[in-house]
Amino acid sequence: MTLDTGMENELTRAEISAMRRSYGETGLDSLAEDPFAAFSTWLTEAHENPIIVEANAMVLSTQDHKGLLSSRTVLLKDLSEDGFTFFTNYSSRKSKAMHSQPHVTLLFPWYAMERQVIINGRAEQISRSESEEYFATRPWNSQIGAWASRQSDPLESRSELEDRWKAAAQKWPEGSTVPTPPHWGGYRVFPDAIEFWQGRYSRLHDRLRYERANVNENGVTAGTNEIKWEITRLYP
Ligand SMILES: Cc1cc2nc3c(=O)[nH]c(=O)nc-3n(C[C@H](O)[C@H](O)[C@H](O)COP(=O)(O)O)c2cc1C
Repeated sequence: MTLDTGMENELTRAEISAMRRSYGETGLDSLAEDPFAAFSTWLTEAHENPIIVEANAMVLSTQDHKGLLSSRTVLLKDLSEDGFTFFTNYSSRKSKAMHSQPHVTLLFPWYAMERQVIINGRAEQISRSESEEYFATRPWNSQIGAWASRQSDPLESRSELEDRWKAAAQKWPEGSTVPTPPHWGGYRVFPDAIEFWQGRYSRLHDRLRYERANVNENGVTAGTNEIKWEITRLYP
């Protein structure tokens, strides 16, 4: 039986149900004790792997003031011991959600490497100067695009968006300095937990969860400033 979309070579439901891969032999035993170092190694390996498209793409999940969840892809643009940074429109649906509920999840789906990383943390707006510094490195047409988009608002027609782009392009022609829109900037997600998943044979996958040991529920490090991580192995 098919879902009858009219497509040729369409997968049957039985074929979809039979889709599975046999996962590999390599485990997580050699992962670094510092989760940022471990993540950095995996990001580098994903970036160097020709099968992985946009290794820095991650699924950001948020919860709005009504408790409704939403997910979307954003691009990781900076990584440091302070957290995971991405850029977006501060008036977007995700930004409104993070404003009322800063706890978010980031998920890196590196399926081709039988790997997944899930990060739980708190999102905070980065400073204006950091956003401006990154905005200045963006290609001109992306800079103009940031001015043109009222991200997540209803749009009457595509031509309205293109007209807004042209108006911004006229105001700041190519080669001129495009200012950072006030409604655009970065968020940094400071992790409370980072979980690494590696597919293994017979569905005996490896999972290692790194959790901040000395942090209270407001994200404040207790006692010393040094962050301690507890590593727990989880059943797959
Ligand atoms: C590969 C990929 C990368 C994306 N990167 C970003 C990004 O870095 N920032 C962003 O605001 N939206 C990005 N988007 C678009 C978002 O997924 C989303 O459509 C948009 O941010 C609006 O989300 P919202 O209405 O939930 O706020 C990306 C989409 C894809 C598929």
